[in-house]
Amino acid sequence: MGQIIDGKAISAAIKDEVRDKIAQTGDRYGRKPCLCVIIVGENPASQVYVRNKVKAAEYVGMTSLKIALPEDTSEAELLGRIRELNADPGVDGILVQLPLPRHINEEKVIDTISQAKDVDGFHILNVGSLWTGKRCIQPCTPKGILHLIRSTGIDIQGKRAVVVGRSNIVGKPVAKLLLDANATVTIAHSRTPDLAEVTRQADILVVAVGRERMVRGEMIKPGAVVIDVGMNRDAEGKLCGDVDFDSAEKVAGWITPVPGGVGPMTIAMLMQNTLECFFAHNE
Ligand code: GUN
Repeated sequence: MGQIIDGKAISAAIKDEVRDKIAQTGDRYGRKPCLCVIIVGENPASQVYVRNKVKAAEYVGMTSLKIALPEDTSEAELLGRIRELNADPGVDGILVQLPLPRHINEEKVIDTISQAKDVDGFHILNVGSLWTGKRCIQPCTPKGILHLIRSTGIDIQGKRAVVVGRSNIVGKPVAKLLLDANATVTIAHSRTPDLAEVTRQADILVVAVGRERMVRGEMIKPGAVVIDVGMNRDAEGKLCGDVDFDSAEKVAGWITPVPGGVGPMTIAMLMQNTLECFFAHNE
């Protein structure tokens, strides 16, 4: 039976650390760190995510600013708002919740955010810095996943890691962070033949494909660390991951649950990133 990696507890401890640092900083800079979250439209999942981000910012003692714009907001108007926030010395972090309505070019929006305020780590200069080994703001979900893997106590160096999924938000950056930790990394995806044969080699298996319960116990190496990034609703409306938890936990050494695994870590890392931007901004 695999041990559960309790993302909720680990993220709570990290948020408390951030809260303590903010409390210790007191009034040294004349203001608290400030995170601005922009949401465009009414996507219900995005609304939940944004609410949780704002709640976390308030919990750790940051100023949070939520800008909710209607679905028909023009790209030009959104870019204008971002430029204003870039120029605002009272704002440390800017996050535009994705996905955006189809008439808005996401790439353009992300790259309009000042690199120094890009708390998501999605800006092309942060991505380029990540891949070339320069100091950068690391994207929240991949950074949180590394924390969860390290929490098991295993040494990542020399391990075989398999990442299933190649998105810009999770798959690709988490593979780079695992590579930086000296794992031998394979990125598998929807066109990988005999996926099970690949995943069975993984000492560390990260699954971020967005297909409910796709990875089953028989695809997992006994004792592996299994990180499930999925967030799906099954036919009965139940929240479930990309890993079939019931069969996987019998084989895995450690496994993240859904919910309560990776999800809360993303928000804890966002708090860390915003605090880092605040300190960098005030240096
Ligand atoms: N949509 C899904 N995940 C994320 C994320 O990490 N950041 C933003 N901005 N949007 C998302």
